[in-house]
Amino acid sequence: MQISIVYDSGYGHTAKQAQSVAQGVQRVAGVETRLISVAEGHIPWNVLEASDAIVFGAPTYNGAPSARFKQFCEDSTKLAWIDMKWRNKVAAGFTNSGAQNGDKLHSLISMTLFAAQHGMLWVGLDLKPGNDSSSGSVHDLNRLGSWLGAMAQSNGDQGPDDTPIHSDLETAAYLGQRVAETVRRLQPV
Ligand SMILES: Cc1cc2nc3c(=O)[nH]c(=O)nc-3n(C[C@H](O)[C@H](O)[C@H](O)COP(=O)(O)O)c2cc1C
Repeated sequence: MQISIVYDSGYGHTAKQAQSVAQGVQRVAGVETRLISVAEGHIPWNVLEASDAIVFGAPTYNGAPSARFKQFCEDSTKLAWIDMKWRNKVAAGFTNSGAQNGDKLHSLISMTLFAAQHGMLWVGLDLKPGNDSSSGSVHDLNRLGSWLGAMAQSNGDQGPDDTPIHSDLETAAYLGQRVAETVRRLQPV
């Protein structure tokens, strides 16, 4: 079983989140993962076609996935969508932004629509929202309270070694593990 993680990152913060998704995938036996950075300019379309799941990730720029990620989406039209090469593959998404909210939901909605247009099966988070009670804190899993995908927030004055914080990275890992478990569950016996 193979899970690809296709992501963009301008300054390394979303790349940290992508690495955490990969670590979560690796918690499930028998599932391999591959990180594919759209910034590197070469998309291994054959690897995506051979994957059981594709997880999409991008920083939120101007309230939407970054332009490089959008370019990947557009390129997939000719290279995957026309022949519906990703039909019935599992899909999920994650995003990271500077503001606590930052209109990140729109990025996840954009990825969900993209996956739906490819005939993919979207997997969200089954986590309760964290940091939503007097006993909660920013260290809670899913502290930003998302269901559609994993969210992370990165302070603008800190580099990727310091931000996003551990709880956001653990939330990303949780999503990766959930995608891997879903892929396993969908395997024919
Ligand atoms: C062009 C641009 C647009 C941005 N737009 C938003 C935005 O709409 N909302 C937000 O919260 N942060 C916004 N940010 C901040 C980034 O989301 C934030 O710096 C993020 O950590 C960058 O991730 P990266 O290091 O993976 O590129 C923007 C940053 C840039 C460079």
